[in-house]
Amino acid sequence: MAATLLSSTHVAPTHRVRVERVRDEAMGIRSFQFVPVDGVPLSGWKPGAHVDVHLPSGTIRQYSLCGDLTDRESYRIAVLEIVDGRGGSVEVHRELTEGAVLEIGVPRNDFRLQDAPAYLFIAGGIGITPILAMIKEVAAAGKPWRLVYGARSAANFAFTEEIDALAATTWGRVDYVPQDTAGHADLPTLVKNSVGHGVYCCGPGPLMDALGAEMTKQARGSDLVIERFTPPEIVVADGAGSFEVELTESGVTVTVEPDVSILEAIRDAGVDVPSSCEMGICGTCETRVISGDIEHNDSLLTDDERDAGDVMMICVSRACSPKLVLAR
Ligand code: FES
Repeated sequence: MAATLLSSTHVAPTHRVRVERVRDEAMGIRSFQFVPVDGVPLSGWKPGAHVDVHLPSGTIRQYSLCGDLTDRESYRIAVLEIVDGRGGSVEVHRELTEGAVLEIGVPRNDFRLQDAPAYLFIAGGIGITPILAMIKEVAAAGKPWRLVYGARSAANFAFTEEIDALAATTWGRVDYVPQDTAGHADLPTLVKNSVGHGVYCCGPGPLMDALGAEMTKQARGSDLVIERFTPPEIVVADGAGSFEVELTESGVTVTVEPDVSILEAIRDAGVDVPSSCEMGICGTCETRVISGDIEHNDSLLTDDERDAGDVMMICVSRACSPKLVLAR
């Protein structure tokens, strides 16, 4: 069993690793290969898994693993630098130079590959990272697969050599769709021609929203599995008011105004709550709900879990009753 450490800021176990190799993979995209500093094998993982990357500033970001599934000596991630983003990707590109030592979480997986006779993968931009690991698994299993990979231009496609080599040696087909010359993928036709396939998509929100709508329209909604790197846009209805949150463990009651999250309101009141993505995609801020009606805005909970109504992600989800009582 792999040795793990406990991070000071995060309850999940971690590996201490060194950046072994940094490579430019496409315009703005770099891959980072990590190896354990103590030589102890890393935890195993499955396609779709991601790890928390603990950056020098204390920021934690999640990135999908996209290396060799059988390699317990190293992990690989790839990161698109978003200059006007929240700062995590810029710090990764600036600070994670070869030789840097950091902690990364053990792999977690909310985007699992299910068994299917054939697969259609649709990737947009940096969404190729979990999809690449899935293709490797499906190709190794000898199953037919097709990848439709969209990006801004030809210079923005990453890992093309690996993808092309997989397509050439297995039952694979790849369509690159550079937006500047080819526009967008023809989703209605792709959905129509993929009956019986498992359909997996990772990429920008509008791509996944459009694919989800098309799958639903063609009565294929249950065949689709997606992973969001960004949360669905949360629209606070005009006139939506504030609500109250009572915390039973800390004995604090706060008012959550329409323009702040529950997490922010609680922290402002001096209650320390662990968080990581703050986008409803990692589960770190999951909180037990004792009473009240929840407006779930995360990308993690299943419909059954939402219906049960006993947990919520307080970084993005809100109340649709005047008061929530939470076990914090
Ligand atoms: Fe990641 Fe809330 S901090 S789901």
